[in-house]
Order: sequence, then C-alpha cells, then structure tokens
Amino acid sequence: MYICLCKGVTDHQIREAIAEGACSMRDLRAALDVANQCGKCGRECKSLLNEGLMNN
Ligand code: FES
Repeated sequence: MYICLCKGVTDHQIREAIAEGACSMRDLRAALDVANQCGKCGRECKSLLNEGLMNN
C-alpha cells in the first residue's frame, strides 16, 4: 500500500528501512525522501516507525 503518494513509497519500503536501522523521521526522510513534499504521509510514517521500533 502506498503511504507517500508524492514519492511513491509503500509501507513495505518504510518497514524495510526501519528494519535496516532507520529509527527516526529524519532517518526515514533521508532513506526514502518521505514526508518531504506535501507532508500528508508524516503521520502514517510516524506510526509505522513507532510500530517498527516496538518490534525491533
Ligand atoms: Fe508523502 Fe506527500 S504524501 S510528502
């Protein structure tokens, strides 16, 4: 499922980046360029991040 429509980034890619060590929004931005345009995906990215960090 697409989370960031501006950049065409899926939840799968976000989970993968977290599994590879991204542990902040700054890391996700740097890795995938999410939440850098309209910002609408920021909330969703953050909740995937929190979820991912709890499972790591
Ligand atoms: Fe991610 Fe617009 S949907 S920046």
